[in-house]
Amino acid sequence: MNKQLILALSKGRILEETLPLLADAGIVPAEDLGASRKLLFDTNLPGVKLVVIRATDVPTYVQLGAADLGIAGKDVLLEHGADGLYEPLDLEIAKCRLMTAGVKGCEPARARRRVATKFVNVARRYYAEQGTQAEVIKLYGAMELAPLMNLADEIVDIVDTGNTLKANGMEPRELIASISTRLVVNKASMTMKHDMLKPLIERLRLAVAARRKTSDAPA
Ligand code: ATP
Ligand code: PRP
Repeated sequence: MNKQLILALSKGRILEETLPLLADAGIVPAEDLGASRKLLFDTNLPGVKLVVIRATDVPTYVQLGAADLGIAGKDVLLEHGADGLYEPLDLEIAKCRLMTAGVKGCEPARARRRVATKFVNVARRYYAEQGTQAEVIKLYGAMELAPLMNLADEIVDIVDTGNTLKANGMEPRELIASISTRLVVNKASMTMKHDMLKPLIERLRLAVAARRKTSDAPA
């Protein structure tokens, strides 16, 4: 049996918050992730390796078993779909909201509203549930520009402080989902490598619980 666990980490914003959490859980990369062009890293734990990949690729790696477990935003998981994945733990980092937003004070101009987003599946599902006719168009970034350029009536995007919306004369409208970063596990690995996975998940669970306790404690 293959006695190795591969943990897929999301690059970028989530990685910055993931590394301190992994350290709290006693999982430390054997070398500085930022200091090389390598993508596969050993850790201090025998048999546990890390891969650092695009956030949107994490569900694919875990779903297809190339990685046994992964760390990804709930937004990415909602968009990708969760077949073949368990989601045993909310890591409670990179918290934000997935929302609709539009130009401040403006009603949608088109009868069938046009919505710009990188979360096309989430958006289609959301507007269908609301019974709202919507044409969803895919963009890869700078969503806030689309309504200003009359490319779209509305956007579906991540909102945290609201500063990006505000700076572009826009306002948040409906909350689609509260987002945080989740641990996902390949379903087959959960069975086949349970003896290795269980203690790793438990380390992370304890680290999250310890942080929650600290943040809940009176100042
Ligand atoms: P890629 O480079 O693969 O397109 P990205 O640019 O969306 O990814 P990041 O900006 O690093 O990558 O964000 C990745 C994840 O971080 C998001 O999927 C979401 O879960 C979370 N996130 C994004 N924006 C914020 C924010 N403003 N505040 C908190 N968390 C956020
Ligand atoms: C994300 C998101 C919003 C912004 C929201 O963008 O797409 O633009 O953060 O955060 P705020 O409410 O605190 O302003 P990011 O900075 O990740 O850049 P991106 O457009 O490249 O994803």
